[in-house]
Amino acid sequence: MKALVLAGGRGTRLRPITHTRAKQLVPVANKPVLNYGLEAIAAAGIREVGIVVSDPRELLQPDHRTGELVTTLVNSQAEIRAAVGDGSQFGLHVTYIEQEAPLGLAHAVKISEAFMAGDSFVMYLGDNLIKDGIVPFVREFEREKPEAQILLAKVARPWEFGVAELQGERVVRLEEKPKQPKSDLALVGVYLFTKSIFDAVRAIKPSARGELEITDAIQHLISTGRNVRSHVIHGWWKDTGRVEDLLEANRIVLTDMETKIEGDVDAATVIEGPVRIGKGSKVERSRLRGPLIIGAGARITDAYVGPFSAIADGVQIDRCEIEHSIVLDRSELRSITGRVESSLIGRDVVVTTSNARPSAHRLMLGDSSRVELA
Ligand code: DAU
Repeated sequence: MKALVLAGGRGTRLRPITHTRAKQLVPVANKPVLNYGLEAIAAAGIREVGIVVSDPRELLQPDHRTGELVTTLVNSQAEIRAAVGDGSQFGLHVTYIEQEAPLGLAHAVKISEAFMAGDSFVMYLGDNLIKDGIVPFVREFEREKPEAQILLAKVARPWEFGVAELQGERVVRLEEKPKQPKSDLALVGVYLFTKSIFDAVRAIKPSARGELEITDAIQHLISTGRNVRSHVIHGWWKDTGRVEDLLEANRIVLTDMETKIEGDVDAATVIEGPVRIGKGSKVERSRLRGPLIIGAGARITDAYVGPFSAIADGVQIDRCEIEHSIVLDRSELRSITGRVESSLIGRDVVVTTSNARPSAHRLMLGDSSRVELA
């Protein structure tokens, strides 16, 4: 049994964060989403993993200090390779499979045929997070030996997913992002396949959005009478493609966290609930209300950091209130009036109040940024 992890794609719904970083590396509770998947695969006893990555692309954007337009090479592939390496930190042996463009999940399967060399495999979408891991599903697949196995979960917005229509326990039809969903059962981004999936991906044509859809490939297996098993999961699962989902994932993961304080906290600071603070961080005259996590080398002064916040390494928060938010590396929040909440703030971002006249909002935001001012 091998694994195929999909870490290509464009991440359009998480722009501007994904202009400069692979969406699979956006952290949940200060750990890249992708790591959760790789850990789940390792826990299922799988060692050989192929990671699908996309080619680098060029992007024209303002330089964050000077405002000058510069072309940057966005190399999410290099970033993923740097973060995961040969996989040994996860107990895995990783092979990178290059996809020339995000031509669809079934296209990613197609290009991995040589790597699979006839073995069965679990396909894991690199932006999915399943809290309880995948061990029971892999064991069920090994025991029952279907030709493919899919996981389904009830969702509130089925039109954003692949949707399954069941008769009893049997899947009769799958449809990718249907306008009128036949059920509220979405395809979870974890699939188990035998080599018969390669015939199916060869048989299908690109969808209206121009992608080879894995949903169509599985539908092809069903239509040709193959045994496709489904399993409705009741545990917590999230596709972290949208900011709201990422924040919810952050909330769920932080809920189970335990206190561990490695940084310096002064006597004037009040800590309530589970709080993690990394090495070299300094907290002064602040209120920290967990569950929350602060990385290494951060500085929190005269601030309130509330529940479900994940503050990355090197962040500085001074005279601000923040909760239910993710702040990435080295960003600075200073003297902000009003509480910051439900926010995703990228790397090296500066948010501050200024006394310069005339008094005004002065913004320098990347493409596809979103700001809601109170
Ligand atoms: O999350 C579950 C959903 O994932 C399923 O319900 C849908 O049936 C399935 O099509 C998929 O939908 P998304 O629109 O969310 O897929 P997305 O484009 O976000 O891609 C999922 C992951 O695969 C993501 O980590 C990027 C990667 N990817 C995507 C494409 C299209 C690739 O590596 N190569 C690709 O060509």
